[in-house]
Amino acid sequence: MDMNQPSSIEAAVRSSANAGRERSIGAILIDAGRLSVEAAEKIIREQKAKGLRFGDAAIGLGLLKQDDIDFALARQFDYPYLSAGDGALSSTLVAAYKPASPMVEQLRALRSQLMVRWFSDDTTRRALAVVSAERGEGRSFVAANLAVVFSQLGERTLLIDADLRNPRQHKNFKLDPRTPGLSSVLSGRANGEALIRIPSLVGLSVLPAGAVPPNPQELLARPQFVRLIEQVSKSFDVVIIDTPAADIAADANVVAARAGASLVVARRDHTPAPKIHALTKDLSGANALVVGSVLNSF
Ligand SMILES: Nc1ncnc2c1ncn2[C@@H]1O[C@H](COP(=O)(O)OP(=O)(O)OP(=O)(O)O)[C@@H](O)[C@H]1O
Ligand SMILES: [Mg+2]
Repeated sequence: MDMNQPSSIEAAVRSSANAGRERSIGAILIDAGRLSVEAAEKIIREQKAKGLRFGDAAIGLGLLKQDDIDFALARQFDYPYLSAGDGALSSTLVAAYKPASPMVEQLRALRSQLMVRWFSDDTTRRALAVVSAERGEGRSFVAANLAVVFSQLGERTLLIDADLRNPRQHKNFKLDPRTPGLSSVLSGRANGEALIRIPSLVGLSVLPAGAVPPNPQELLARPQFVRLIEQVSKSFDVVIIDTPAADIAADANVVAARAGASLVVARRDHTPAPKIHALTKDLSGANALVVGSVLNSF
C-alpha cells in the first residue's frame, strides 16, 4: 500500500467528464430520490450548453429548488449499512461498513454516472463486466462494493464472480467455498438456486464462482453463459460481473462481450498506461463497450 497516497478510487464515465463537484451534487440527489436520471441528463446538457454550474442549470430549468441543492451540500443521507462489529461480511466491503467514507462517496458518484450512461430499463443494458489488465488491481473490490451501493439504492442487484481462476467474492460475502456457483451453472450442474441472497444487504444477491474448473475460458464461451445473462437481466436491475486479469487469459474479453459493457479498473502508479490502452482496444474489438474507468489508489 502506498502510504503517501490516500486510499481512493477516481471514476470517469465517458461523456460526462464535467466538473466533479457539480456532478456529485447530481449524484447525491439521484441517490436521495430527489432527482430522476432523465432530469439529471437534461441538467447536464443544459449545463454543458450554457457553461453553468449544475445547481444553477437545475434551478433555471425548474427541475430542482435551492432546498435540494442545500440538502445535497449538507449531505444528509441515510443508507442501509452494517456496524463495524458485525462480522457477517468481510471488512473489504467498505460500502457496507463505512458508508460515510470518501471512498464510498466516490463509489456512489460512480454508480450515478453508470446509471446515466449505461444501466437502463432495457434488459440488454443491465450487465457490466469489471475488468483490469493485471492481477491485484482491485477488480473484485470495485465489483463487490459497486454491487453493494447499487443495492443500497434499492436496485435489485446481482454480483457474479466470473473469475473462475482466482475467485474472491465467496470470501467477501463469507460464503462456503464449496457452494455451487457459476462453474456449476455453466456445466449444467446447478441453476437459479446457486444465486445466494445476502440477508444483511436487502436487494443484493451473489452468484459465487463455484468450484475452480480446469477449463474456465471454454465454460465462459458456452451458450449457457449467454442464457444466464439473459435470464438474470430479467430479474435484476443491475448485474455486476467480476473477471480474471485480462493479462492471464482471454476470459475477461469473453465476459465483457457477453455483458455488453465494461468498466476498466487501473491501479494508480502501478498499471502501465500502454496496458490500459491495449485492454480498452481489445474490449472495443470484442464489442464490449467501455462505459467507464476507475483509477484505484491503495
Ligand atoms: N481502493 C482500495 N482500498 C483498499 N483496499 C483495496 C482497494 N482496492 C483493492 N483493495 C485490496 O487490495 C487487494 C487486491 O484487490 P482485489 O482482490 O480486489 O484485486 P483483483 O484485481 O480482483 O485481484 P485478483 O487478480 O487476485 O483477482 C484486496 O485485499 C483488496 O481488498
Ligand atoms: Mg479478483
